[in-house]
Amino acid sequence: MQRIFSGIQPTGIPQLGNYLGAIRNWVALQADHECIFCLVDLHAITVWQDPEALRQQTLAQTAVLLAAGIDPKAHILFNQSAVTAHARLGWIFNCVSRLGWLNRMTQFKDKAGKDRENHSAGLYVYPNLMAADILAYKATRVPVGDDQRQHLELANDIAQKFNHDYGVEFFPAIEALIPPAAARIMSLRDGTKKMSKSDPSAQSRIEMTDDADTIALKIRRAKTDPEPLPTETAGLQDRPEARNLVDIYAALAGITAAEVLARHGGEGFGPFKTALTEVLVQAVVPIAEETRRLLDAPDHLRAVLRDGAGRAAEIAEPIVSEAERLVGFLK
Ligand code: AMP
Ligand code: TRP
Repeated sequence: MQRIFSGIQPTGIPQLGNYLGAIRNWVALQADHECIFCLVDLHAITVWQDPEALRQQTLAQTAVLLAAGIDPKAHILFNQSAVTAHARLGWIFNCVSRLGWLNRMTQFKDKAGKDRENHSAGLYVYPNLMAADILAYKATRVPVGDDQRQHLELANDIAQKFNHDYGVEFFPAIEALIPPAAARIMSLRDGTKKMSKSDPSAQSRIEMTDDADTIALKIRRAKTDPEPLPTETAGLQDRPEARNLVDIYAALAGITAAEVLARHGGEGFGPFKTALTEVLVQAVVPIAEETRRLLDAPDHLRAVLRDGAGRAAEIAEPIVSEAERLVGFLK
């Protein structure tokens, strides 16, 4: 059975893009993989996090994952800082990775923007730590959204360079598992921007704790254009907002964009938004309700993470110890 590793930042409330791009696939992959799922709090503090909010959001994120169907007994769910192997291998990878490689990372450029000088060094070396997350478990498959593709290519470069520099075949190749449909869900306010937990406007995203009324309102207000829906996918070109709503519908209904347009092409956005709201409510509201129930029992959530961290460390410890020996650390 292949080993899966994936991570999600415990910042903000998980949004629909996280669910369709990541969480939903994590749940499905549990059927035929050994899965390790991680709340990456070390990654989270690469930008400022209020300490109490970070703790709270780590629990909230755990609740959403459990509510969505992650099974913490058959698999592993934990927070990154609880397993020291990540930081230790991350440091080694800081020394394997090259500045030239990091300089190509588009996510850093997007996040740091023009104010590059003023960002944390952690944000810059973030992809090295991400490589360490995966390789500390020698995981071979990594389910992520399309935005993480470049980071996984870098992780493969790091693994290869490590193997080459130390003359070993130690770290395996990593395969990205990117869902074809919902790989990139866009903002409801701007079809050219990724839907994100960190967007200042909550109207730009569906949160996985939204109730039915909130979902209906956000979809009613979602940006569109004056044309009716096209009948063919070619007609979605240069209509990013229309394409995004069609993609969301397709991902939720488990059909292709072409099939959505076969059903709804020619309609105005009014009726289409009503249909979209219906599928969204069906998918999101049960998870939102279960999340609220779980958040009433934070001790249970803490116990789940503690148990997961213990089992994660058992896998990572011997691998990272061996990597430390390979680089020449005296043991
Ligand atoms: P993050 O919220 O950046 O920690 O992302 C966690 C996971 O959700 C990663 O696998 C991302 O690729 C995925 N993800 C985040 N936002 C989106 C989005 N708008 N569309 C698709 N996947 C996303
Ligand atoms: N960088 C990922 C994101 O922002 C989160 C992440 C951290 C991750 N470590 C990982 C994803 C390891 C997959 C594997 O979405």
